[in-house]
Amino acid sequence: MSTAQTQFADLDRAELKAEEARTLLKRIADEFGPATLASSLSVEDMLLTELIAQAAPEIEVFSLDTGRLHDETYATMERMQQHYVRERGITYKVYFPQQDAVEAYVRDNGVNAFYQSVPLRKACCEIRKVEPLNRALIGKKAWITGMRAQQSTTRTELKVQDVDTDRGIAKFNPLAEWSNAEVWAYVRAHDVPYNELHDRFFPSIGCAPCTRAIAAGEDIRAGRWWWEDPLAKECGLHVSQAVSMIRR
Ligand code: ADX
Ligand code: SF4
Repeated sequence: MSTAQTQFADLDRAELKAEEARTLLKRIADEFGPATLASSLSVEDMLLTELIAQAAPEIEVFSLDTGRLHDETYATMERMQQHYVRERGITYKVYFPQQDAVEAYVRDNGVNAFYQSVPLRKACCEIRKVEPLNRALIGKKAWITGMRAQQSTTRTELKVQDVDTDRGIAKFNPLAEWSNAEVWAYVRAHDVPYNELHDRFFPSIGCAPCTRAIAAGEDIRAGRWWWEDPLAKECGLHVSQAVSMIRR
């Protein structure tokens, strides 16, 4: 198959999967409302925001601003607010960490202490991501993520519909079975705004000090917490307490 034919095939599959995802999002809004999309402003989350705007605008979207995001991610946040909030009526909230907890961490451990050990890295993620996530999910019956099974060896078993056992609510991963090529085919065909870091070899984007560009042939998440063992590389947002205690 030529490159052009492969791209058409990716877009065909993406359009079919987008239709399935819209149907799922409507069902989530009807049966699991109030529901919310957790958006890191990654290309996957922007694609889901587009599908929510098309099919289920009652689903809210939120981001966790850790205070350590890239400038390019804040630029994407502005585009999200302009395009999806002001122009298309999506409800979007940004959650920040608790000021006291950040101040104590920085005072006791240092501003970049996450490089020193896995426990100090997880403590930073706990303060800057997990605690704000818990607040964002209060009162929700379901949350939605942009995770895909192909992103990581820790995600191969990812299900489209799951249960968040820690919080006792439903968890949906509508893009679980999408390939990277299908995501990009849809985003380009529909002019979905995206973080420009993706064009600079950042397939997976987290906080600035903990994310770097990857080299050709490297795993999609190789640039996240690159100094750590690949099996420990989840920040706690998607790991049940029981599993994360074992991994520590
Ligand atoms: S992480 O656990 O390693 O940080 P990753 O960056 O792959 O996760 O993102 C997976 C999904 O987690 C995103 O599609 C999004 O649903 C959610 N997520 C990650 N970071 C954030 C964030 N800062 N704000 C909101 N949701 C996030
Ligand atoms: Fe802290 Fe890095 Fe986790 Fe961001 S990714 S919360 S800076 S340890």
